[in-house]
Amino acid sequence: MAELRHITSAKDFGFLDFLEIFRTAEELRAIYNDPVKRLSLMYLLKKANGEAFRFRILYSGASTRTIGSFEDAIETMGGEVKTNPLEFSSAAKGETHRSTLRIHGPRCDCIIIRDDKDDYAAKKMAEAAEEYGLATVVIDGGSGSRQHSTQALVDPYTIWRRDKLRFMNGELTLALVGDLSHSRTIHSNLIGLSQFGGKVFLVGPEEENVPDWVFSEIDTNKISVEKIINPRDIAALVDYWYITRIQDNLRKGKRLSKKQIEHYIRVYGASIRKYARTDSWFLHPLPANQEYPEKIDLMDSRFIHYEQADNGFFVRMALLKLIFVPTLDIRTILAEQQSVWVSGYFSRPIELPAQLINAVCPEPSCPRVRVHTNWVDMDPEVKKHLIKAKTVCDRCHPQFYIAK
Ligand code: CP
Repeated sequence: MAELRHITSAKDFGFLDFLEIFRTAEELRAIYNDPVKRLSLMYLLKKANGEAFRFRILYSGASTRTIGSFEDAIETMGGEVKTNPLEFSSAAKGETHRSTLRIHGPRCDCIIIRDDKDDYAAKKMAEAAEEYGLATVVIDGGSGSRQHSTQALVDPYTIWRRDKLRFMNGELTLALVGDLSHSRTIHSNLIGLSQFGGKVFLVGPEEENVPDWVFSEIDTNKISVEKIINPRDIAALVDYWYITRIQDNLRKGKRLSKKQIEHYIRVYGASIRKYARTDSWFLHPLPANQEYPEKIDLMDSRFIHYEQADNGFFVRMALLKLIFVPTLDIRTILAEQQSVWVSGYFSRPIELPAQLINAVCPEPSCPRVRVHTNWVDMDPEVKKHLIKAKTVCDRCHPQFYIAK
């Protein structure tokens, strides 16, 4: 599993990260759905001294789902969150993202940033955190028309819950439909989905397509991608349709004509259901505009966008747990033993009782050990003294194949 620190791109998630996040989301969902156990989640975003992890959500761009689900996730897990529109921060007076990060960072464990105007908003803040040596984690909540990194968790999670094996085996056919050039959720999803393989059709008007930079981020050996103009041509093949609205707020002056808008609504929206397979599903990151009649989900049970949106809460809780709280089980261990410092995977090095190290990578040059479900880095000198079950770490694993 790659180390999760800043999340500025769907590229930050490897295949194993996706699976770990999905599995954790399922565990948290089960706890949340049990009224007796739910309150135990309140301890997740607490530090060893009882202080809550502090989050700031900064945004210049409207949001219901991303901001709402992050706020709910943080509060459910006992963290503290403040949500500030950038238009009322000094960003309105010309302050840069770098400077904003430097101001909030020293007293803030995590900044979640949405900026509709800046394609590199999260990246700039993450770089600033590194340059200033701040432990603050930066999470992209939508940067311009480029990326929406955590939506690329929500949507695959929704597919995985319905079609685990076929999805993981790369046997599904998906159609990403609509504003291919400007939909940041399509861009991030294409990058994320490329970890799973399968067939992806990019379906949209002739003049629109996913930008070249997205293709440079995906492994085309794993995934097959094809541009299609008429969704009817592929209807017999598609398992999941991913519909998007015209991204008016992200098109930077490239407005569509009235005729183009009418065409888009007619061809790339709910009309697809008339000829789509009865066993196919329709996703949409929302908000939906004219491409969907408002009650489409009540008219046709294949439209599962509210289920998809609900999943955002669980998947964002899982992400925060995996970044900030890999130590839940450790709290329950009472016996004192030799302790060791480990890093990687966590937002900062943490001290663990040695008894929690339950596996050691046998690759001599690899400093990784396994703590319950997580791989972490350790001082190789300390590692030598740990006599535990040996297994091959997720990072070295491919090297063994290459060596053969
Ligand atoms: N899917 C999504 O990003 O929704 P919001 O814009 O409401 O956050």
